[in-house]
Amino acid sequence: MSNAAQALKTQVAIIGAGPSGLLLGQLLHKQGIDNVIIERVSGEYVLGRIRAGILEQGFTDLVREAGANARMDAEGHPHDGFGLSLNGEKVRIDLKTLTGGKTVMCYGQTEITRDMMEAREAAGLTTWYESSDVQPLDVESDTPKIRFTNNGQTYELSCDYIAGCDGFHGVSRKTIPAEKRKEFERVYPFGWLGLLSDTPPCDDELIYCQHERGFALASQRSLTRSRYYLQVPLTDNVEEWTDERFWDELKKRLPADAAERLITGPSLEKSIAPLRSFVCEPMQFGNLFLVGDAAHIVPPTGAKGLNLAASDVATLYKILTRVYQQGDKACIQHYSPIALRRVWNAERFSWWMSNMLHDFSDEAEGAMDKAMQQRFMQSELSYYLQSEAGRKVIAEQYVGLPYEDIPQS
Ligand code: APR
Ligand code: PHB
Repeated sequence: MSNAAQALKTQVAIIGAGPSGLLLGQLLHKQGIDNVIIERVSGEYVLGRIRAGILEQGFTDLVREAGANARMDAEGHPHDGFGLSLNGEKVRIDLKTLTGGKTVMCYGQTEITRDMMEAREAAGLTTWYESSDVQPLDVESDTPKIRFTNNGQTYELSCDYIAGCDGFHGVSRKTIPAEKRKEFERVYPFGWLGLLSDTPPCDDELIYCQHERGFALASQRSLTRSRYYLQVPLTDNVEEWTDERFWDELKKRLPADAAERLITGPSLEKSIAPLRSFVCEPMQFGNLFLVGDAAHIVPPTGAKGLNLAASDVATLYKILTRVYQQGDKACIQHYSPIALRRVWNAERFSWWMSNMLHDFSDEAEGAMDKAMQQRFMQSELSYYLQSEAGRKVIAEQYVGLPYEDIPQS
């Protein structure tokens, strides 16, 4: 039996209540722009995802602008630098000195998401959690809508614009006809095995380790919670990795002093994630905008995924503010070119960091002998680390490139 769709209305309809959708919704609300979020799963499910936790200054500034910064500023840890270890020898990238005072903030994505959800609830904004059959319609017209089902009832949400913040597997990107979009993709021949534990971190700062046994990363969430990663073959199962095996392997890949300080404990979470570079062009189609993971994925090596989502949000939010406050509808054409310039920069940096730090020797033979390629990469990384100019290039990109202004249309 067909049930008649119930009509709803808003200015900006947002698909997805991840960091992109929540941050965009809060910023638009602060500018008096009405918005509704439609999310496939429950709020608890969204909060159950363990993701990265290094925030660029551009990101923390946006969270402050959104008014959801109290806990981040109280509990987040500014980091002035990080370590890069080349076969056991650590070099510090002094972010603050090399960039003229810029730092990053260590604060988990889960926490940011929780803070944004609370801010959204406090502002009385609507989020339709656990919605199914979410379908953007008529996105090329002046009257786009989203049809979705919630609790057995079908709804049709009319709006001016749709923000597709629904991640890599969402529906928004696929709404752009295949012949109108170009997708670029590289799937890496290994994964990251992550382990979260309530143990003090082995160092004050993050350490990215290039090692002949494979890449490792020592990261953290707080002074009592650590997050570690190991490069593993994609064919490995998480069940093959007991906590003990994980800790033993990590110790071998860390610099000796960090390995000595390492405190082990039971894992709270352990999972294997694939690494991917992906970009969809363009990021706008009619009145539909792609934001965050819906349009691009980076391998986590440069800590750029969440930060790229934030720069998309910053660009779209400024554009929509201009549309509603100044009536300048033409400025929406700037979204995709501005967002993509920053996306490609971060894609390149993440790809480069991944190439420098991982062991690719298992990859099928390509044009160049793998052992030779490996030597080139090691030589390149050690060249960058030995030179102040090289360290500066790394630092500048790690803290994040500046956000572009929106030109007058
Ligand atoms: N309808 C509604 N919601 C959907 C749909 C759909 N068809 N498909 C996916 N979603 C929801 C997901 O359940 C998820 O909550 O969209 C949200 C997308 O969130 P993320 O995947 O976290 O993507 P995003 O908000 O862009 O976050 C930026 O950058 O690299 C990363 O780890 C980083 O997840 C972070 C991301
Ligand atoms: C993390 O803490 O999960 C993390 C930090 C930095 C990265 C990737 C992941 O580059």
